[in-house]
Amino acid sequence: MCGIVGYIGYRDAYPIIVKGLQRLEYRGYDSAGIALYDGTDINLSKTKGKVEDLRNKSKSTISLEGNLGIGHTRWATHGVPNDVNSHPHYSNSGDLVIIHNGIIENYESIKKALTERGYTFTSDTDTEVLVNLIEEVQKTEDVMLGQAVQIALNQVVGAYAIAVFDIKKPDEIVVAKLGSPLAIGIGENEFFIASDASPFIEFTNNAVYLKDEEMAIIRLGKEIKLRKIQNDAVAYPNILELQMNLEEIEKGGYDHFMLKEIYEQPRAILDTYRGRLLADQGLIKMAGVDQNLEKFLNANRIIIVACGTSWHAGLVAEYIFEDLARIPVEVEYASEFRYRNPVITDKDVIIAISQSGETADTLAAIKLAKEKGAFVFGVCNVVGSSIARETDAGAYTHAGPEIGVASTKAFTTQITVLTLLALKLAKEKGEFSESQFHEVLTELETIPSKVKKALESNALIEIIADVYKDSPNCLYLGRGYNFPVALEGALKLKEISYIHAEGYPAAEMKHGPIALIDEQMPVVVIATKKGHYEKIVSNIQEIKSRKGKIIAIVTEGDEQVTQLADHVVEIPETSESLSPLVTTIPLQLLSYHIAVMRNCNVDQPRNLAKSVTVE
Ligand code: F6R
Repeated sequence: MCGIVGYIGYRDAYPIIVKGLQRLEYRGYDSAGIALYDGTDINLSKTKGKVEDLRNKSKSTISLEGNLGIGHTRWATHGVPNDVNSHPHYSNSGDLVIIHNGIIENYESIKKALTERGYTFTSDTDTEVLVNLIEEVQKTEDVMLGQAVQIALNQVVGAYAIAVFDIKKPDEIVVAKLGSPLAIGIGENEFFIASDASPFIEFTNNAVYLKDEEMAIIRLGKEIKLRKIQNDAVAYPNILELQMNLEEIEKGGYDHFMLKEIYEQPRAILDTYRGRLLADQGLIKMAGVDQNLEKFLNANRIIIVACGTSWHAGLVAEYIFEDLARIPVEVEYASEFRYRNPVITDKDVIIAISQSGETADTLAAIKLAKEKGAFVFGVCNVVGSSIARETDAGAYTHAGPEIGVASTKAFTTQITVLTLLALKLAKEKGEFSESQFHEVLTELETIPSKVKKALESNALIEIIADVYKDSPNCLYLGRGYNFPVALEGALKLKEISYIHAEGYPAAEMKHGPIALIDEQMPVVVIATKKGHYEKIVSNIQEIKSRKGKIIAIVTEGDEQVTQLADHVVEIPETSESLSPLVTTIPLQLLSYHIAVMRNCNVDQPRNLAKSVTVE
C-alpha cells in the first residue's frame, strides 16, 4: 500500500526522501512523487513507475534543493496509476501539498460541494479532494494549517495517514492518522515522517507512532505535541527507542529480500522462542498469556482471524490447538468474519494474526470481536503496530523486519508463537505429562537446526525449478498439519511467479482436481513419514497413474515415495505437529527460484502490497 516519507530539518530533504521511498518499495506501489520546498517555491515531480523513474524524472525537471519535503509511493485505489493521479497533490491555490495513504470514502460528495464553490480537479483521486477541502476550510474559517486539517478531517469518512505542508508556513508539516500507519522520527532539530521507521532508522532511533485519530503539527524548534482529531485534547507523545538496525533492512549480500528472509528462519524461529521456551525447567513463559491464563482456560473456543499467509499459519494452529490442547478452534478470513454477523460471546478468545499489524480487515475483525465482549490476543511481528495496540494482550513474533512482499519468516515465526501458546495451554489443562511436555519442548529446540538442514537443499531445488519454471499450473497437496503448508506453498508460487497454483488436502484430489492431472501437471506433495504416510503414498500412486509429475517433500532416508516420485527433496525427521516449520522451507525456495527464472520481481510482485491497509 502507499508509502509516505517526509523530512523537515537542516539536511537536504531530497536524498533522504528518495532513499526512504526505496525502503518502502516493499509495501507495493505503482507510482511515486516528491514535493520539495526550496526556500521560495514548491518543486513537485511525480510519475507512474518506480522510485528510480522518479529519480530520473526529477533530476532533469525540478530543483532538488530544500530542507523540507514530502514523498509518496502510490498503490492505486481511486484513479488508474498515471502521472497525474500520483501524489503529492497541490491545492487549487498551489499553496498546500499533500500525500495520503488510505481512502476517503465520501470524497465524491465533498468534490461536488467544492466544485460548486469553484474548485477544479486535475486528477481522479480522493486525495486531491482532501487537500482542497483543507484549503477551503483555511479560507472560510481563517485558521492555520493544523486547525484546517483538523476541521477537514472531521468532515471525511475513511482511512488515512496524511502529511501536508503550506508554502506560507514552511517551518511545519502537519500529519494525521486513522487506519493507516504513520511514524515520526525525532532527531536533533529535525524530524522525519514515514509509514514505518525504515526510511529514518539511519538518522534516529527515537520515534513516535501516531495512534488512530491523532494528529501532530511538526514544527522546527518545537517539541512534538499530539492532538486528537475529534477534539482539542492534547497527548504527550510516547517516544520509543527503536531496536531495528540498518543491517536488518538491507539485503546483506542476498539477491533478494525474500531469499535473505528465507535464510533468516533458523535465527528468527530461535529468537521467537528464546526466553519463552525453558525446556530444562519444563516451562513456557509468555507474559501476555500468563496474565490472562484464565481467559484462555475458560474459553468455549478460540477463533483465529487473519488474512493470506497469516491465515495459513492460523490453520496450522487449528491442528495444534485441537490435537495437543484439545481446545476447539475456528479459523476465519478476517474479511469474511467482519461482515457476516458472527456469533461471538465473552467466552470466546479471538487470536488475530498479522505480520504487519496493519491489515485493515484484521483490524476491523478485532474491533468487532471486542465490541461483542471477546478477549482478543494478537500475534504480530511489527512492534507498536495498530493490531498490537488494539488487542487486549499478545505475543510478538521476533522475525525482524520482513521486507519481501511474500511472507516467509513471518509464517514460520507465527507458527512458532502459536505452538508455544498451544503447548502452554495443553500443559495447563493437563493434556501432557511432565515427560511428554519436556520431550516436545526439547524437540522444538531442534527446529532451527532442522530448518538449516532443509535449506541445504537449495541447489537441488534450483534444478527442479528449472524443469517446471514454464508450467502454467501447479498443484500442491498435503494432509493433516501439512494441508495448510500446501495452501501456503501454492500461494507463494502464484504471488511471485504468476503461475496458477492450487493447494488441496491430498484426499480431496479425487473429488475434483484429479481431472486436471496429466503429463503436463507438476504436483508438489508433502509426504513426510509422520502423519498419514501410507495414505499419501496412495495419493501419489493416483497421480502417477495419470502421468502427473511428482515433486515430493520426504523425510530423510525415505524409500517408498522416492521410488514413485520424479523428484524428491529430503528434510530432517520431526514430529507431525512441528513438521510445518520444516516442510514449508523447500516450498518457499521452489517458488523463489521459479520466480527468479521467470524474471519476475520477487520482492515486489505486481499488484501486491506488503501491508494491506485498505479493505
Ligand atoms: C503472502 C502475504 C499476504 C499476507 C496478508 C496478511 O505472502 O504476505 O497474504 O500474509 O496480506 O498480512 P499481515 O500478516 O500483515 O496481516
